[in-house]
Amino acid sequence: MIAESEMDPRSLSGLNPDCSIMKEDSPAFAVEEGRRSALVTGGSRGIGFEIAQLLASRGWALTITARHAEQLEQAARTLTAAGGHVQAIVGDMADDAAIEGVINGHEAMFGELSVLVLAAGVGSAGAIAGYSMPRFEKQFAVNIKAPYALVSHALPLLRRSATARPEGRSHVVAITSLDGIYPERGLAAYGASKAALISLVRSINTEENANGVLATAISPAFVATELSAWTTDTIPFDSMISVEDVVNVVNLLLILSPNACIPHVLINRVAAGPYRA
Ligand SMILES: NC(=O)c1ccc[n+]([C@@H]2O[C@H](COP(=O)([O-])OP(=O)(O)OC[C@H]3O[C@@H](n4cnc5c(N)ncnc54)[C@H](OP(=O)(O)O)[C@@H]3O)[C@@H](O)[C@H]2O)c1
Repeated sequence: MIAESEMDPRSLSGLNPDCSIMKEDSPAFAVEEGRRSALVTGGSRGIGFEIAQLLASRGWALTITARHAEQLEQAARTLTAAGGHVQAIVGDMADDAAIEGVINGHEAMFGELSVLVLAAGVGSAGAIAGYSMPRFEKQFAVNIKAPYALVSHALPLLRRSATARPEGRSHVVAITSLDGIYPERGLAAYGASKAALISLVRSINTEENANGVLATAISPAFVATELSAWTTDTIPFDSMISVEDVVNVVNLLLILSPNACIPHVLINRVAAGPYRA
């Protein structure tokens, strides 16, 4: 999240409008080795990166995506060292062509998709009165339009992987926000985009549970990452939820029996109480 006045203009235009694959490996790797694979958007830092670390440490095959190539490449090296088999695809989730390229790139490399993690997200603070519509559109493009398109493109692969695997399930994990449920002053556009993402998760469960695709929305209050650095003058990092707390919830989802689906997890920040981020 960034204060409106501080927003990096590069993030409005998108630094990497084209989707480019940065790392090659043997095709259909995951299927050959019987490994599970995940696609993690926003996998270069913060919550997405730490979820990718959890999966890498278990030897999963991973595709990670983000816009900035250097940070993404560094993340891929770290995840590979942790035990993952990693493909990095640079792409701006505000760009429709990049979204399709990410799913196609993952399928071409690994041939299966057990978990789709939707962690890429942006926020821009400001009052509703006079709010900048390009900022509104950017948040809706990245926070809800891209997840919708990613899920839409990925569903055939998620269904196929669910059918092929012994547990008979695949997962969509969306990092939503407590702000999508309980509004924070100055975060109306961000909160509305996350409320829409929570709704999308419910719809995925309604339409796709019968096909073996389960979806979970994880809605944390403020988490100590770069995204929430703008508010540390009033909410210090040491009072925020840790990234590990979110990763532990993802771990819980992965160890559940195939008969159980947790559709929504709220993570409160103790210092804020139950209804504030
Ligand atoms: N931190 C919090 O307080 C908090 C609380 C609740 C929910 N969340 C949600 O959790 C998710 C992860 O947030 P975080 O705190 O880990 O943020 P972060 O540290 O800023 O990481 C965001 C990730 O998303 C990528 N990203 C941003 N815009 C993108 C775009 N247009 N296209 C592709 N990738 C993009 C970033 O890489 P590039 O910049 O290189 O693209 C980065 O990998 C977000 O959806 C956020 O809304 C965060």
